[in-house]
Amino acid sequence: MIRSIVAGVGGYLPARVVDNHQLASRLDTSDAWIRERTGISRRHIAAEDELTSDLAVEAARRALARAGLAPAAVEAIVLATSTPDHTFPATATAVQRKLGAPIGIALDVQAVCAGFPYALAVADGFLRLGHARTALVIGAETFSRLLDWTDRSTAVLFGDGAGALVLRAERSAGTLADRGLLATKLSADGRHYGDLYVDGGPSATRTTGHLRMNGREVFRHAVARLSDSVLAVLAETGFTVADLDLLVPHQANLRIIDAVAKRLGLPPERTVVTVDRHANTSAASIPLALDAALAAGRLAPGRLVAVNALGGGFAWGAALLRW
Ligand code: ACO
Repeated sequence: MIRSIVAGVGGYLPARVVDNHQLASRLDTSDAWIRERTGISRRHIAAEDELTSDLAVEAARRALARAGLAPAAVEAIVLATSTPDHTFPATATAVQRKLGAPIGIALDVQAVCAGFPYALAVADGFLRLGHARTALVIGAETFSRLLDWTDRSTAVLFGDGAGALVLRAERSAGTLADRGLLATKLSADGRHYGDLYVDGGPSATRTTGHLRMNGREVFRHAVARLSDSVLAVLAETGFTVADLDLLVPHQANLRIIDAVAKRLGLPPERTVVTVDRHANTSAASIPLALDAALAAGRLAPGRLVAVNALGGGFAWGAALLRW
């Protein structure tokens, strides 16, 4: 059988760092409130002339270098983003052009903070169906452009960044001990459309709009959905939480990450946390966290790794990989 294996990981964060104290100098908030309620200390913010595609290209270059591949090898680009350069065409095509990748598949996936598990599943489908042998799966966001910087309840939560994975189709015996993507589980519940959304868009308002959120409702659903999605990918493969070496969750809020780990019975040392220094980078947070975990030596070959995310929609999902 064909299985999608991770051949390389790369991350990119814009140079400009904004800490909580800087935010507190222009908003009615404090470092103590932000750290206590979210675990966030600082975030990276893209430069004025830095686009989502620029962040994505940098992360993709790093992932390709780690895989020992040139852009010429890329046959598919699946980009998870809710902050495209333009309404259309797909930002993935801008990435393709800037990278100098050849003619191939290029599309954006829009599942907000759950974008990365969705993009992973889409790319995995292309590889397993034989549409491509090498794919870039990228999460890239400039959420700073969507924020209402006068709204303290949302402005403090997000940051910009990008992360990328090189996925390769590999012949596999297909056992659970063989490396690669083992299972994905994706869901959405549109009844929560209004709990986390942007109040603009080409069809509804002809404007870009700003992010609006019912934080308590997001929190309540996030903990249950995120834990259940991990249990679902484990159940599909016959594993249990005890088998899981590492959970690389979407980085929205330390309290959500801790609550999910507690609900799963997963010790804190088996969870990756970057939200303190990246804040919530939406679809980019998981590949950025994978990049950090790799750099910290926490992703040795053979490890059983789960990723999970929830965002606007609500949309949520999880994936299970043998590293
Ligand atoms: N600084 C100071 N005070 C603030 C701030 C701030 N930045 N933001 C809100 N407050 C105030 C509120 O105005 C409110 O004041 P009031 O009691 O006088 O009305 C008070 O703090 C409590 O507000 P709550 O919204 O009840 O605070 P809560 O403890 O729920 O924390 C938070 C808010 C952090 C947003 C929390 O609800 C949360 O984490 N929700 C999840 C949202 C999230 O992570 N979204 C990311 C996108 S979705 C995803 O990626 C999963």
